[in-house]
Amino acid sequence: MSRKRVAILISGRGSNMSALIEAAKAPDYPAEVVGVLSNRAAAQGLEIAAAHGIATASLAQSKFPSRDMFEDIMTQMLESWDVDIVCLAGFMRILGEDFVNRWAGTMINIHPSLLPLYKGLHTHERALADGAKVHGCTVHFVTPGLDEGSPILQAEVPVLPGDTPETLSARVLVEEHRIYPEALRLLASAEIRAH
Ligand code: GRF
Repeated sequence: MSRKRVAILISGRGSNMSALIEAAKAPDYPAEVVGVLSNRAAAQGLEIAAAHGIATASLAQSKFPSRDMFEDIMTQMLESWDVDIVCLAGFMRILGEDFVNRWAGTMINIHPSLLPLYKGLHTHERALADGAKVHGCTVHFVTPGLDEGSPILQAEVPVLPGDTPETLSARVLVEEHRIYPEALRLLASAEIRAH
């Protein structure tokens, strides 16, 4: 079995990144994590990845004259790792069209809502404010429109009386860690394709 080479893009704690790294340790998993790239040098996930022996890099967009140049360097870095699939895992930057198109069909993201509901930020707060009874998360292909690519997997969780954004996000996160490795497995084993 030839395993797909995966890079993970992060900005922070990297718990979804960790879930992908753990899943990829299984000998029959169809993907291996070859690099982790952060746009923040202080991202905790970088240390976790390095402790697993995975190549890491951090690139601050503010150091580049334009977003295009920043994203060109990101693509060069990913190509230097010979990456087949890019997983966004809490990467807090909106990506430009050229970068997204370069990785079309091979770049996926985890979003903490049942898309198409609650695109963008503060999803748990907004679900609670709406009195939603059900909330959840989605793994989807990345397309130029924010959180608009076709979904690969979703998981629902109940919204419980007394929930705060913190309790709700913790319940959703458990499901994120379950469906993200499963969605990557589907993509890496070519059981799904972008359409
Ligand atoms: C997750 O809730 C993910 O859905 C969202 O950003 C958060 C990242 O958390 N895109 P972590 O860095 O994976 O712990």
